[in-house]
Parts: sequence; structure tokens; C-alpha cells
Amino acid sequence: MSSASLTLDPAFTVGTVDPRLFGSFVEHLGRCVYTGVFEPGHPAADEQGLRRDVLDLVRELGVTLVRYPGGNFVSGYRWEDGVGPERPVRLDPAWRSIEPNAFGLGEFMTWARRAGVTPMMAVNLGTRGVQEACDLLEYANHPGGTALSELRVTHGALEPYDIRLWCLGNEMDGPWQTGHKTAAEYGRLAAETARAMRMIDPGLELVACGSSGAGMPTFGAWEATVLEEAYDQVDYISLHAYYEPLGGDLTTFLASGAMMESYIEDAVATCDHVRARLKRDKRIQLSFDEWGVWYMSRPESEPPTEWEHAPRLLEDHYNVMDAVVVGSLLIALLRHADRVKIACQAQLVNVIAPIRTEPGGPAWRQTTFHPFAQAARHGHGEVLRVEPVSPPAGDVPALHATAVRASDGTVTLFAVNRSQTDALDLTATVRALGDVRLLEHTVLADPDLDARNTADHPDRVRPRPVGTSAVGGGTLRAVLPPVSWNVIRLG
Ligand code: AHR
Repeated sequence: MSSASLTLDPAFTVGTVDPRLFGSFVEHLGRCVYTGVFEPGHPAADEQGLRRDVLDLVRELGVTLVRYPGGNFVSGYRWEDGVGPERPVRLDPAWRSIEPNAFGLGEFMTWARRAGVTPMMAVNLGTRGVQEACDLLEYANHPGGTALSELRVTHGALEPYDIRLWCLGNEMDGPWQTGHKTAAEYGRLAAETARAMRMIDPGLELVACGSSGAGMPTFGAWEATVLEEAYDQVDYISLHAYYEPLGGDLTTFLASGAMMESYIEDAVATCDHVRARLKRDKRIQLSFDEWGVWYMSRPESEPPTEWEHAPRLLEDHYNVMDAVVVGSLLIALLRHADRVKIACQAQLVNVIAPIRTEPGGPAWRQTTFHPFAQAARHGHGEVLRVEPVSPPAGDVPALHATAVRASDGTVTLFAVNRSQTDALDLTATVRALGDVRLLEHTVLADPDLDARNTADHPDRVRPRPVGTSAVGGGTLRAVLPPVSWNVIRLG
């Protein structure tokens, strides 16, 4: 057992959590949409084919916002195919799949309303441009009296969808992207698309594509070039990051939260550098609109060789270690809540997702469901500035932590022990919180780090209460097992 310490003091804060930090992502990829959120004929499906069992889990997960419809998919997408009575079947080159277009904007908006989530819509800036983005915006948001808004009305949506948040393309720096662009090409296109969209609807919030990862050779330079062009037209720049235990290196994998923090700090530095050069007051905020654990180097992540509808793609089956890493990634986002305003765990159902389904069968929670659900439930309020002290686990401290003070004064400490060998004996000074009691300490850990949930055993891995923690004399004492995700609530 090693010792670790930290102090919780409401006088030292990072910022207020934007509820949109607990977002997710639905892409037309694999079985995220088809046999995921949408499966006409399933026993749990409603009259529109939306799976009620999945909707229940989405609400339980606490998701606040959902990005749609991609991802790489959007860069070859014609939004018109997904509205109205005619739904052409198309090839989706991004995932080498057959797209029936049975699910589109209207179905998504109905689903989003039922799920209680804010929509975040992406426009295609790969194979399309300013005009098509404006057309989609007019169809979605204009009240009526024009060809496209009346088309929406004839499709049954009398009221405008009023979508406020839009992504200007997806991962346009990636050579794999349909219609991939240089930073200068994309920066101009993003600026002009944003300007035209705001001429139609001035109140929009717009996200420019940042790099598709901190490891991209153009990371930093891409953001600077894009923002030099589009600074005045956009509100956010995107970040994307996926983590996996490359070469079986679990120590580095467990340090993913630290890598995410330095990526965020580098992106902030780049945005603020451009701000200084352009002499602007406004600050560009961050939209971390794809993050998660993705075993990208496994063959299941490759597009299929045959054209198929809803193939089983990217269906990673998560274990205890993956859930702890997801917890650490959530801690990283919360620790930067002053600049990260939007974040989307990628993705929501079946595709690298916390929720899994079987066609015609059940929906169930992966291990990674739990840290997200707990953070989304207890992570709203003011983030306290927490500086943990602990022995190292590889190149980073074993203890990764943050705390959030809710409006009712309850404080939740989220803590991950990254050590694979030593429990941490945590002493937290909580005197500044006043006379608080321990409300609960739950831990997600297991002697078998590879333990997983399945459709037959959906609760094998879940957070369990800890009975040994205590608060007294202004001090919290708790033991954090090796490789564990802990939620400790005081109030
Ligand atoms: O989420 C899976 C894919 O990862 C998305 O389509 C793409 O944007 C990213 O590369």
C-alpha cells in the first residue's frame, strides 16, 4: 500500500462544467444506427422503429448531447437521402457499407427528443460545400414559407428543428477522409460555410475541425492555419483522441488521461496564440467531440472487404481496465472544464460503445457504461482545483483525480488509481468544505482486469459500495485498490 493525498477547497476552482461535456456520438457506422438505436420490428421498438430498451439505457447513461451523423460517414453524405418518403440506397465509401437511408434527420431528431439530448449536427465539407450546408440549415431551422422549409413541413415536421450546434465537417486533416483537404483549403471553406450559415441563422454555434489526433504530423500547424482563416466565424475547435494498450503496454494505456490533458493544453495554447496574433478578445473553446478507448489496431476495425449493410464493425468488448481508463479520461475533461465545453464519448451504441445490442435481442451495459453514468450524474457544478500527490505509476502519478461541487453543496471526488500493484491509502483534507459527511464511496475494480460484461452476465462488472472509508476531523480516509475507478461523495 502507498500513501496519497489531496486537498478539497471550494475557494480554488477551475470553472463550471458545461452540461454538454457529457455528450456522445451516433454515426452511420456498423450497427450504431441500424440494430442499435433503430430496429423496426424489434420487440422493444416503437412505431417508428426506435428501440425503447436502448433509449432507457441512454437516459440512464446521462448523455446530454449527441453528435450526428458522422464521423467519416458525413464526408460523403447527402442529407436529402435521409428525409421524405424516397430513401435511396447508397454506397458509404467511408465504411464500405450499404446505406439504406431508412434513418435520417427526422428520425434522429425524434430519437434525440425522446432521449432528452441536445443535437449536434455535422455538415459534409468533404464532397460538398457552402450551398449544401445552407440547404440543410434552411430545411432544419427555417420556420416555413421557403422551398426547403416547406419540404420539411410536408415531411411531417411542422416546427423547425432549431438545431443550434453544428460541426463544419469531420477530420478534414485525415488523408482517409473523403474529400480530405489541406489546412488552407479547409480553413477557407470552413470560414465561408460558417459565414453563410450565420447569414441564415445568426445564433448558431459552430465547430471547426481541429486535428484528428495529437499524433497527426500537422497537429498545431493545422489548428493555427484554420483559425487564422476562421477565427471570427467559429466558436469551437474540435479534438479527437482514441486510446488503446499498444503492444500490450498497460502502464502507458493507464496513463491515457495524462496524454489527454497534455493534448488539451497544447490545443488551448495554439488557440490562444492565434488569438494574440489576431488581437481578438474572444477565446476559442474546445469541443472534444470524439474520445474513448478504441482497439484500433485489431482487424475488426478495418472496413469490410464486401459491401454489407450494418456490418459488425468496431464492436470492442470492454474490460475492467478499459473502464478505469474511461474514468481517467472523464477526469481529464473535468480538470479542463474551463476550456472544454463540449465532449462526445465515441460512440453510443455497439461501435466502440458503452451500450451493446443484439439484433432481435437484449441491450446491455459494457464496463465503460459505469464511469460515464456516474460522472454524468455527479459531475455537474464547479470543478475544484485538485492537486493530488502520490507515488508514480510509470511516467505519471498513480493518483488521477478531480472534484465537482454541485449547487446543493455536495462534493464528488472522482479518483483513479493507475498503479497495477499498489493500493493507495488516500488522505484528503476536506476541512474547507465545512462539516461534511461521507455519503458514499463506490469502486469499480476487479482482481481480474480482463473481466467483462456480456449479454448473459450484464452486471459482472459494476461499481460496488466500499464500507471502510470515513470522514472525521476534517479528513477523508479511503483506500483505492490497484487499477480502480472511485466515486466518493461528501455532503
Ligand atoms: O468514431 C469512429 C471514427 O473515428 C469516426 O468516423 C472518425 O471521425 C474517427 O476517425
